Amino acid sequence: MNVLVIGGAGYIGSHCVRQLIEAGHNPVVLDNLVYGHKGALLPSVKFYCGNLDDPVLVGKILDDEKIDLVMHFAAYINVGESVRDPIKYYRNNVCGVVSLVETMLNHGVKKFVFSSTCATFGIPAKLPLVEDMPQHPINPYGQTKLDVENFLKNCARAYGLNSVAFRYFNASGAAEDGSIGEDHKPETHLIPLAIFAAMGKGPSLKIFGEDYKTPDGTCLRDYVHVDDLSRAHIAAFDKLNGDGMFLHYNLGTGTPNSVLEIIKGVEDVSGLKVPYEIAPRRPGDPDALFADSTKAKTELAWKIKYTNVRDIIATAWKWHKNNPEGFKD
Ligand SMILES: NC(=O)c1ccc[n+]([C@@H]2O[C@H](COP(=O)([O-])OP(=O)(O)OC[C@H]3O[C@@H](n4cnc5c(N)ncnc54)[C@H](O)[C@@H]3O)[C@@H](O)[C@H]2O)c1
Repeated sequence: MNVLVIGGAGYIGSHCVRQLIEAGHNPVVLDNLVYGHKGALLPSVKFYCGNLDDPVLVGKILDDEKIDLVMHFAAYINVGESVRDPIKYYRNNVCGVVSLVETMLNHGVKKFVFSSTCATFGIPAKLPLVEDMPQHPINPYGQTKLDVENFLKNCARAYGLNSVAFRYFNASGAAEDGSIGEDHKPETHLIPLAIFAAMGKGPSLKIFGEDYKTPDGTCLRDYVHVDDLSRAHIAAFDKLNGDGMFLHYNLGTGTPNSVLEIIKGVEDVSGLKVPYEIAPRRPGDPDALFADSTKAKTELAWKIKYTNVRDIIATAWKWHKNNPEGFKD
């Protein structure tokens, strides 16, 4: 299939582009490079620099490249920033998608894959999180993702759009060959931050709270490898053949790990000490978040390759050790 990957120069999108090529598809990337890296893309991948809400540019790409399906990774992702500046988040994460879907429909493209998040659930009443549990996001970032999920449902009924939303838990790790990996600026994710602390880059790691209702007092999260996420996306392509549908899947390993376990994992994998300090809790951090991904495993035959978080950390370590400053662009 000819696939337009929007946000394909970002962390998850760039890994997905590699998986698409491996699976025999033909990805084309659109990214405005606000947060992405040209260096994350193989030189053979056709790249357009621009905004997803530019109907002229997007329409031309859809036509010229004979696009069958659009994958959307191009959101802003910083929860704290979304609280401070919700307009930035609603404009890009919601209005941007409305504009994009309108352009797709105007150009006859009706297959859409959307990156959603476990943050749409808010504070879970029960664990593990199953797809149809109530969604009550507690920050603007999570709300923008839920708004788009609901928008896509309406577009299925109104215009026959076929879409799938994947609710990722904690995307982590890097390409097995170490060629690409995570390079967010600023970085907010635990595994890279623990690795940076171990490498002596920046201050010591902050653990936000050690009095949660978990075995070691630190928060439990579900770390899922970025290549496993990408494979689930590709497995869903064949499902998007109806006359208007909205599918949704939770993607996680189902095995939670605590902050202290991640630190220990980084220490074991790297052979370095991770200096850390205990900081106050952050408002809104649930004790634990982990997925029940039975639906994706059953309906998409999704198989998780990285079931052990140490193996995920090892891929991240390989990337960061060889690229301490991230991508060169
Ligand atoms: N990283 C995670 O743990 C995680 C967890 C849950 C959900 N998600 C979702 O996955 C998606 C990808 O996350 P990521 O970590 O790869 O983020 P990222 O910031 O690395 O990648 C996003 C890419 O989109 C591009 N972009 C942003 N706005 C754009 C626009 N208007 N037009 C064109 N390009 C634009 C950026 O330049 C960047 O390359 C996001 O939608 C995010 O909400 C991520």
